[in-house]
Amino acid sequence: MNKYWNNKINSIEPYVAGEQPRAGERVIKLNTNENPYPPSPMCRKAMEEFSLDTLRLYPNTDAVMIKEAAAIAEGVAPENIFVGNGSDEVLALVWQTFWEKEYDQDKAVLIPDISYSFYPVYSDFYSVRCRRVPLKDNFEIDPGDYIGKDNCGIAIANPNAPTSITMPLSDIEKIVMANPDSVVMIDEAYAAFAEGYESAVSLIGKYKNLLVVKTLSKAYSLAGLRVGYAIGDRTLIEGLTRARDSFNSYPVDCLAQVIASAALLDRDYFEDRRMAVIATRERMAAELKELGFTMPESGSNFVFAKPPAPLTAETLYKNLKAKGILVRYFDKPVIRDYLRISVGTESETDEFISEVRKEICDAKGS
Ligand SMILES: Cc1ncc(COP(=O)(O)O)c(C=O)c1O
Repeated sequence: MNKYWNNKINSIEPYVAGEQPRAGERVIKLNTNENPYPPSPMCRKAMEEFSLDTLRLYPNTDAVMIKEAAAIAEGVAPENIFVGNGSDEVLALVWQTFWEKEYDQDKAVLIPDISYSFYPVYSDFYSVRCRRVPLKDNFEIDPGDYIGKDNCGIAIANPNAPTSITMPLSDIEKIVMANPDSVVMIDEAYAAFAEGYESAVSLIGKYKNLLVVKTLSKAYSLAGLRVGYAIGDRTLIEGLTRARDSFNSYPVDCLAQVIASAALLDRDYFEDRRMAVIATRERMAAELKELGFTMPESGSNFVFAKPPAPLTAETLYKNLKAKGILVRYFDKPVIRDYLRISVGTESETDEFISEVRKEICDAKGS
């Protein structure tokens, strides 16, 4: 208890981000679902052409360049896009814009009980009541749990994290259709890696209550730039803008605006790298399965894998860390038997698999 902090800050349990190594430290970093490949060469060009003098001025509040580039990438109008400082900020504004404070009503936002761990943190921080809906035993989300259930909003990551599982678009549509009075937020941070999945953006024209959130951190290799955006009906975008302008009206800096738009417009590079990540994920998943791991089918740039006994997820996480290979371990009920492993480059994957093989042998021998 700190006497200078308010009750909220004293009681809150903040989100815990994955470890970031110090500059120059050599690690194989498979713990925060970053992209192993560099950003589009068009980003470098945009950076080189950027005039430092531009920084004298405040950035465009709406990040219009990004809105226009994202509109082309998504096949919607710029008016349907809202841009933020990473999708985390967009999500934080979603919590503040669409869902009532808990003291105003009994209704709760429905979120899967295993999902992006920022959702319950935002709920707590912004005093929004949330109800955590259990997943099925195989970690899938049951759409029926979100239909005909009282709520003031619904937040679902698709593919879900850390489970990596993709829900079919037809199930998302059922949820959106069944909840016309609530905003249904679909967080598609990883959707570019879900082969055969058509983004829920394709439903935007049809449903005024659907908001899709995307990020440039994963599929565009720009986690360090901090750019994310939401796509939805104009009234939803207007609501987010009102919230933003009551908090920080310049969230995306000038340099981020030019680099992000260059990345969004380079569709060939996006497609090429996305397919490269998918190919390595498939190889990594196959090799892990051969070593005795079990995992759901991944539609993400990571796998959610359970090591073969007697090796435990915790031991494997610690031993790999000691060797400079970082993966994500969650010491939480239900998921503590699994590791979330991001897709690295081909050579990082080789090194990772070879160390895992040694760990399995050591565990069996002991
Ligand atoms: C499901 C999900 N949504 C959103 C984010 C946040 O991404 P950003 O880097 O755009 O803030 C993450 C980050 O890992 C994530 O896993």
